[in-house]
Amino acid sequence: MSKKIKRIGVLTSGGDSPGMNAAIRAVVRTGIYHGLEVYGIMRGYSGMVEDEIVTLENRSVANIIQRGGTILKTARCKEFMEYEGRKKAYENLTKRGIDGLVIIGGDGSFRGAQIFSNEFNIPCIGLPGTIDKDIAGTDFTIGFDTAVNTAVEAIDKVRDTAEAHDRLFIIEVMGRDAGYIALHSGIATGAENILIPERKTDINDIIASLAEKEKRKKLVNLIIVAEGDEFGANELSSLISEKLPTLEVRVCILGHIQRGGSPTCMDRLLASRMGYHAVESLIEGRHNVFVGILNNKMNYTPLNEAVKKKQHINDEWMNIVKILAT
Ligand code: F6P
Repeated sequence: MSKKIKRIGVLTSGGDSPGMNAAIRAVVRTGIYHGLEVYGIMRGYSGMVEDEIVTLENRSVANIIQRGGTILKTARCKEFMEYEGRKKAYENLTKRGIDGLVIIGGDGSFRGAQIFSNEFNIPCIGLPGTIDKDIAGTDFTIGFDTAVNTAVEAIDKVRDTAEAHDRLFIIEVMGRDAGYIALHSGIATGAENILIPERKTDINDIIASLAEKEKRKKLVNLIIVAEGDEFGANELSSLISEKLPTLEVRVCILGHIQRGGSPTCMDRLLASRMGYHAVESLIEGRHNVFVGILNNKMNYTPLNEAVKKKQHINDEWMNIVKILAT
């Protein structure tokens, strides 16, 4: 029998993602509803190591559901990678009686939680907060939908200027080693080509298809490149310009704007539902899992599996890209 949880800590770790605040709010309010004390740990695992821990009340999380970023701030903490750092973190939790943790972050953050929990027997529940959608065990991660919508808005604008000048634009989007932001934003903006790390990029094929389009006077083309693809946007631009010097090529790297902004309705709902279930899970005695939603049903994946598996990209999507972009 796991012992009854009385005090929980919540933290955000790794790259921020829109909807983290909505998740914090859900954790705090569900915890308080169940009579728990809730603590906010600042700057990810750093706050645990350095004892930057604050009490959170219902009012502390008022007016944040619509805000991007994270009120708890976030960081990637080197000290927590060492046993000594984790021991310090454990002591800071125990002096307050914190006996359960909710970690909002990506797979790197889950890896830290898994190790910590095994060493010090503190139940940890993960919430997938990352724009990359690179964790298996959930259809969506908190922040992905907002990031894709931000990318779509930006790419639509780039298309306007591409049309005006008859140019080829190569647009690089984020996603670390995953191609989901590129795939979704590329399909939604009618991109002519989408390059993702999950599929081999055939540069000769791209050049042949651009040459064929140039012949039939289709000069406006958008190529969306995931940052994790084997070809970076700049390298791709040089290769194309070398082979097809008459094309006007420009590169646009969207960068961190994809991580900011007010979360979409979908991300707010996802974060609220997952945050609620994270606390319910701790109370029910679950530990070392992350909360996901698969086919609209709650799904709990052991943290160590989340670290190992990535989401699979279906070939159907690749066919759609090929057929629709002519
Ligand atoms: O994991 C989220 C993410 O935005 C990735 O898409 C990107 O590769 C990385 O973080 C950027 O990290 P940083 O903000 O540390 O440059």
